[in-house]
Amino acid sequence: MHVLQLLNSLICVSCVYCYVASQNHGKTSNAQGLDIPHIPVKSNYEENICPDPDEIWPCQCVQEESDGGLSMICHDVQDSVELRRVFKADFPTTNFSHLYMFDNYGVRVLDAGIFGNVTFTHFSLTFGALKEVHEGALQGSTGTVVVMDFNGNRIHKFDPLSNLSIYPKLKMVDLCFNHLPSIPSVMLSDSITHLNISYNPIGELPIGAFAGLTQLKYAHIWETGLSDIKPGIFTDIDTLEYVSLEFNQLEYLPVDAVTCTNCNLTMVDLNHNYRLREVEPGAITITPGMQIDLYGCNMTQVQEATWRPVLQQQAILWLYENPLECGCDIAWLVRQKELLKHVKGAICSDGSYIRLKDPADYDICP
Ligand SMILES: *[C@@H]1O[C@H](CO)[C@@H](O)[C@H](O)[C@H]1NC(C)=O
Ligand SMILES: *[C@@H]1O[C@H](CO)[C@@H](O)[C@H](O)[C@H]1NC(C)=O
Ligand SMILES: *[C@@H]1O[C@H](CO)[C@@H](O)[C@H](O)[C@H]1NC(C)=O
Ligand SMILES: *[C@@H]1O[C@H](CO)[C@@H](O)[C@H](O)[C@H]1NC(C)=O
Ligand SMILES: *[C@@H]1O[C@H](CO)[C@@H](O)[C@H](O)[C@H]1NC(C)=O
Ligand SMILES: *[C@@H]1O[C@H](CO)[C@@H](O)[C@H](O)[C@H]1NC(C)=O
Repeated sequence: MHVLQLLNSLICVSCVYCYVASQNHGKTSNAQGLDIPHIPVKSNYEENICPDPDEIWPCQCVQEESDGGLSMICHDVQDSVELRRVFKADFPTTNFSHLYMFDNYGVRVLDAGIFGNVTFTHFSLTFGALKEVHEGALQGSTGTVVVMDFNGNRIHKFDPLSNLSIYPKLKMVDLCFNHLPSIPSVMLSDSITHLNISYNPIGELPIGAFAGLTQLKYAHIWETGLSDIKPGIFTDIDTLEYVSLEFNQLEYLPVDAVTCTNCNLTMVDLNHNYRLREVEPGAITITPGMQIDLYGCNMTQVQEATWRPVLQQQAILWLYENPLECGCDIAWLVRQKELLKHVKGAICSDGSYIRLKDPADYDICP
């Protein structure tokens, strides 16, 4: 993770993350340098479970090697009209697993009923030109869908986000790298565990937005232009484990910024909030051994009231690339170097190491 962060300071941030994101998708590369997903396919599957190949062209119906599930590959569809036409074909079975549409520059809108009677468990429509996903577009798959992966489009309207509770098996919604201007003021789901709204110009998280996501574990909210975080926004989520808020504009974390009542957080990632100067005591729920990453923030002080309880719980605090002044605010750390083991990057802005400081030099401090 931190090698990556070093890279980020050298290279255009989104390029690095595009690269990372696309690594998840498979093996070979196309002209844009994006990876084309490799879909393992059984060679001699039973006839008559797929529609007539001519009727669904340019999509293909394939059988997944892993579990024999049927998938549709629709990378080369020209537009929404053609996509709708494909799904009007005669399908011997309508229970599909994946829909893949990758690097497609024609389909801009998914509107109601576009997939006919075909149901999917995974929607993987990534790195394309989609702008709108309307209410009803995915509703044919209400009872089946597990993953909605729409990473890397230009989506500014994604109606299913306002109505998540109608998808009882849904685990993951990935809307990373899109153009969402906001998120709904309330999202309701007793099934989703992963939500990714990173790289969208959201700006603000409504106070009740997450409270109804009762099983949420991973909240990815990188680079969304957030400049403040409302106290208590995560409080009701007992399942929360991982909150990533990198590359936002946060300056100050108030009490209860990232707290949850019965949860065991493993990571609160705030790296590269270039403005972040202050974290109040009680801003973050501390779980023993968790990590709090403040790499590349604007912290000048290591306030005892905030950080002593964290380090005493053996939580790891990442502080590399912060302009630490190393005045009397660090006297407590200099005097108790066993706590310093849990600080990564305890380096003052003049390049000196806190662990090498002589406690006697801090005798003048209270
Ligand atoms: C979907 O199923 C209904 C009822 O079985 C049928 O009337 C309709 O023609 C089907 N639609 C498509 C696009 O196949
Ligand atoms: C297809 O899905 C329907 C409804 O989800 C289910 O009733 C049916 O048993 C499934 N058929 C197969 C072959 O899995
Ligand atoms: C949510 O989905 C239901 C069922 O399809 C629909 O009737 C309702 O209009 C949707 N609600 C919103 C707010 O879009
Ligand atoms: C979005 O976040 C989820 C976890 O919530 C993660 O699994 C996924 O890889 C992320 N997507 C991208 C494109 O980084
Ligand atoms: C968090 O950890 C504690 C101690 O291990 C455990 O008792 C508790 O059930 C955990 N909470 C959740 C929500 O997993
Ligand atoms: C960091 O804090 C200093 C004051 O300590 C301030 O002058 C500077 O503008 C801040 N940097 C950013 C990027 O906000």
